[in-house]
Amino acid sequence: MQVYERLMPTSDITADGLFRGMLHGQPYLVAAVDGEIVVATDRCPHADFPLSSARREGNCVICPMHNGVFDLATGESVGTRKFNPLCRVASRVTDGYVEILLDAATSEAVTAVRSGGHPHQCDQ
Ligand code: FES
Repeated sequence: MQVYERLMPTSDITADGLFRGMLHGQPYLVAAVDGEIVVATDRCPHADFPLSSARREGNCVICPMHNGVFDLATGESVGTRKFNPLCRVASRVTDGYVEILLDAATSEAVTAVRSGGHPHQCDQ
């Protein structure tokens, strides 16, 4: 069974920032992209740097460790050097809160489904 749980209030999220939400001891990266909230695990897919403390340029997050550039909207690695995509998780906004979808038995986040219908491959 899967359940949505509250991660953080939307009032904490500004249009151009990167934010960290904690749930069940796991950190999540939260950002607003073109009016939509996106959530991913807060770990760079390359070597686990917490991307909520990275730099944002437009709709991309830039990891300071090895200059990985990730499109927040798609999760894809879009820099010169390619890495695995961000591990996006399924989320929604309800009653002023960002909620993420969790497996009720394990409390692990359920990965988001890409627009093409294929689940993200997360190595984390
Ligand atoms: S840890 Fe992020 S690019 Fe290497």
